[in-house]
Amino acid sequence: MKILVTGGAGFIGSHLVDLLLAQGHTPIILDNFSNGRKENVPSGVKIYKINLLSEKVERIFEKEKPDIVMHLAAQVSVAKSLENPAEDTAVNVLGTVKLLQYSMKFGVKKFIFSSSSAVYGYTSEPIYEGSSTNPISFYGTSKLASENYIKLFNTLYDLPYTIFRYANVYGPRQRSDGEGGVISIFIEQLLRNEAPVIFGDGNQTRDFVYVDDVARANLLAITNANNQTINIGSHTQTSVNLLYILLSNQLQSPQKPNYKAKREGDILHSQLSNLKALDCLKWQPQYDLKTGLDYTIEYFKKKMKNDL
Ligand SMILES: NC(=O)c1ccc[n+]([C@@H]2O[C@H](COP(=O)([O-])OP(=O)(O)OC[C@H]3O[C@@H](n4cnc5c(N)ncnc54)[C@H](O)[C@@H]3O)[C@@H](O)[C@H]2O)c1
Repeated sequence: MKILVTGGAGFIGSHLVDLLLAQGHTPIILDNFSNGRKENVPSGVKIYKINLLSEKVERIFEKEKPDIVMHLAAQVSVAKSLENPAEDTAVNVLGTVKLLQYSMKFGVKKFIFSSSSAVYGYTSEPIYEGSSTNPISFYGTSKLASENYIKLFNTLYDLPYTIFRYANVYGPRQRSDGEGGVISIFIEQLLRNEAPVIFGDGNQTRDFVYVDDVARANLLAITNANNQTINIGSHTQTSVNLLYILLSNQLQSPQKPNYKAKREGDILHSQLSNLKALDCLKWQPQYDLKTGLDYTIEYFKKKMKNDL
């Protein structure tokens, strides 16, 4: 199938493109490379380097007539969403609504959306799909608004969808600059023999899920879980302190972390139930944290060698 992957040059999107290719699909990438990288994209894949908000995106739909849209392109930073909510809304909400309109107009058969556990805000764990949604950042709010537009496009115009709410995704190619993932940031700093910063007391927990597992969920959604909203996580929680110990042990680093004040917009604990993913998609994570960390460390070691 011809699949338009927005954000396909980014961290999760590029792993998804690899998997789609391996499964015989034809992925096409739409990405403005604000956070994506050319080297993430396998050769031979068609790339449209363009802003999601450009009027020209409609012409891409007209020309390519994709069967499926997998929408990952986004303003992904919680901090930036708090600094500039209007920009966050433009990319995340307006960008999504435009894609929905083009999907309707050009006969897309399914819209698969990358949302986030940030839609939940403070709630008790494990977090189920039916748990309350009270986001505490504009990023979480814009993801939730997009989800509501997707559902309404389905109700009003029968556009099938699957919405995924990811936990904390990690793995090779995740950025370690700016607002990268905590795992990639810690690994790079430990490899450079620098002391990583832990915001808060480090007892906050996160649910870490490996990027290939996330890509596989998207693949399964091509033919399953129509009109469902599904958590994608590991169903476990790991404290940032424990993560730090695991990484410094694996890297045999003597560095001690620097503790700094808790960040605005960060939730305290996170653990997503993945029972619905098992039920609707027969999906369960195939990578445990230790294995996923090994692959991620291997990637960053190679990357640092090549960057020298
Ligand atoms: N990484 C995580 O832990 C995580 C967790 C929950 C949800 N998500 C969601 O998954 C999706 C992918 O995230 P990621 O971690 O791979 O981030 P990423 O930044 O690596 O990927 C996003 C991609 O979108 C592109 N992009 C951004 N703005 C654009 C625009 N206006 N027009 C065109 N392209 C644009 C970027 O260049 C980048 O390649 C995002 O929607 C994100 O919100 C990620």
